[in-house]
Amino acid sequence: MIKIPERLNKYEVYVPGKPLEEAKRELGLDRIVKLASNENPFGPSPRAIEVMRQALNSVHIYPDTGSYYLTRKLSEIYRIPEDNILVGPGSAIITKWLTFALVEDGEEGITADKTFLIYKIAMQETRGNLIEVPVKDYSYDLDAIADRVTERTKIIFIANPNNPTGTLIRRREFEAFMARVPDHVLVVYDEAYREYVDDEEHPCGEDYLQRYSNLVVLRTFSKAYGLAGMRIGYALFADPRVKEAVWKVVPPFPVTYLAQKAALAALDDVDFVKMSFDRNREGKKYLYSEFERLGVRYLKSQTNFIFVIPDHDARDIVRRLFQKGIIVRHTRAFGAPEAFRVSVGTLEENREFIKALEEVLEEISGNSN
Ligand SMILES: Cc1ncc(COP(=O)(O)O)c(C=O)c1O
Repeated sequence: MIKIPERLNKYEVYVPGKPLEEAKRELGLDRIVKLASNENPFGPSPRAIEVMRQALNSVHIYPDTGSYYLTRKLSEIYRIPEDNILVGPGSAIITKWLTFALVEDGEEGITADKTFLIYKIAMQETRGNLIEVPVKDYSYDLDAIADRVTERTKIIFIANPNNPTGTLIRRREFEAFMARVPDHVLVVYDEAYREYVDDEEHPCGEDYLQRYSNLVVLRTFSKAYGLAGMRIGYALFADPRVKEAVWKVVPPFPVTYLAQKAALAALDDVDFVKMSFDRNREGKKYLYSEFERLGVRYLKSQTNFIFVIPDHDARDIVRRLFQKGIIVRHTRAFGAPEAFRVSVGTLEENREFIKALEEVLEEISGNSN
């Protein structure tokens, strides 16, 4: 019998939701509204769809391992050398490559206690430890994180804006933090929701690549570009030595040909990203006003989802919404059992979600009377 390593017993694993078709069958519903994974509800960029159609005839050929054309384009956009750019099958996988390549026995990572799960998952696959620093008012507490840095610290993960809370670290705060972090600590600055931010004080990762040699910026095509199913994202490294080191653990052909083609086209589709941003902003405005009408506490968001902190048990609400065909994400696994996260959908989906939420809240208050 194969011996399974003991350490795997302690692993937290990412628990995916059921396929939509399965959920429909289980509930006996023909329509389900999925607002659980922060995807773009308006589909992929139409330009990306067009190039993928044309590219279908070439998928018998292995893709280019280094995503040559996309890397070149990103190098032009950000005005940094190609040697500082790494394209991978989503920024979550790139996070795993970073920790796998760089974190050694006994070294430490630091992040917030209510943040994106992959940082923890990536760290547990190394022989290092992760320190989770409590958030302050549901935002990253950068001072407290900087206070925890020691000689052993190797990596700090920051999602800005944060998932699941949707909160933003502003420029001044980020710069003060970076000034405190010694340059032996790699700061992974994850901007997955960057295209949705409308706060002018947002620190854009690429603006700091010259200033901080210990910075790596993560970006994805999964959100505003509408390509979550293609699996593609990238990292911008301040220091090409770090990119070179990480590249050593990358398997051959990590990104499919279709994904590379789609990403190139999506980057050019400025109108689609603008439309996604505008509609998302309208969607948030609608949801905020409905939460206020219903007396439900929520946090203003700089992303395409909203963190909702109901008075009643969040898990129960999530379960009741599911029975009505609305899927949202309970945030227990993110360290926030008191809340759930709802992605901003189309206008129609948002309305259906609010209608179901209103019914659920009525059911609950009816039960407790
Ligand atoms: C903060 C954050 N980073 C990264 C990702 C993952 O992006 P990708 O699809 O590129 O792996 C997500 C997805 O939910 C996220 O919330």
